[in-house]
Amino acid sequence: MAPRTMVAGNWKMNLGPAEAADFAQELTLPPSTRSEVVLFPPALSLAALREELSDESEVALGVQNVHWEASGAYTGELSVPMAAEAGATFVLVGHSERRHIFGEGDDDASRKVEAVLRGGLTPVLCVGETLEERKRGEVAGVILRQLEAVLESGEVRERIASEARLLLAYEPVWAIGTGETATPEDAAGAHRILRERLVSYLGDTVGEGVPILYGGSVKPDNAGDLLSAPDVNGVLVGGASLDPSSFARIVAQGG
Ligand code: PGA
Repeated sequence: MAPRTMVAGNWKMNLGPAEAADFAQELTLPPSTRSEVVLFPPALSLAALREELSDESEVALGVQNVHWEASGAYTGELSVPMAAEAGATFVLVGHSERRHIFGEGDDDASRKVEAVLRGGLTPVLCVGETLEERKRGEVAGVILRQLEAVLESGEVRERIASEARLLLAYEPVWAIGTGETATPEDAAGAHRILRERLVSYLGDTVGEGVPILYGGSVKPDNAGDLLSAPDVNGVLVGGASLDPSSFARIVAQGG
């Protein structure tokens, strides 16, 4: 069965606690919203956002990154149990900015997904190729390597098989924050490649049920086309999620 559409907003390092509270007060989602809506504010803004969001809005919250240990001498990091206590239910793992600016590798992504699942939260694993990799014809090779690094973990496969959730986000690096978007056909092609590999590792039922989101310059005027592409089960929105009305317009297109 096709998973429920998800519309997620990644605020990156934007909107402090006061701005997050303002966002929540201004956010008006269509009453008929069926999509699952998630916001990933900076961790410091999560409490303010949670406080101000109305219960009826049913917006879930997540953090943009975690460390794989539960506690310890890791200056500047935050852990899964802390994120859960603060009200997060989702965690972004392996976002391209973590990979390319902060040097995170496939091993880090794998350890983080394990920790997130162990802590009872839902990981959103981000994968995507750079422009150079795309020009070299390496799209499939790169995104499958990033996915397999995580699916090779027996712990991850077992937890997903026994009810835990995993989500993927295909975010071509060249489309992030650039105003360039993959065409719905490009997105569908990459999603199909990921779907086949999910099914081969997890079996038909579980593999078909893993939602695959598209991310990279999603805006109110292109979200509808992307969301109706085959195998695109939702969108991960950066810049356009910072404004409550543009985010609400994207949510409306998710149904
Ligand atoms: P963008 O960011 O929508 O600003 O391109 C997407 C993302 O990085 O998740």
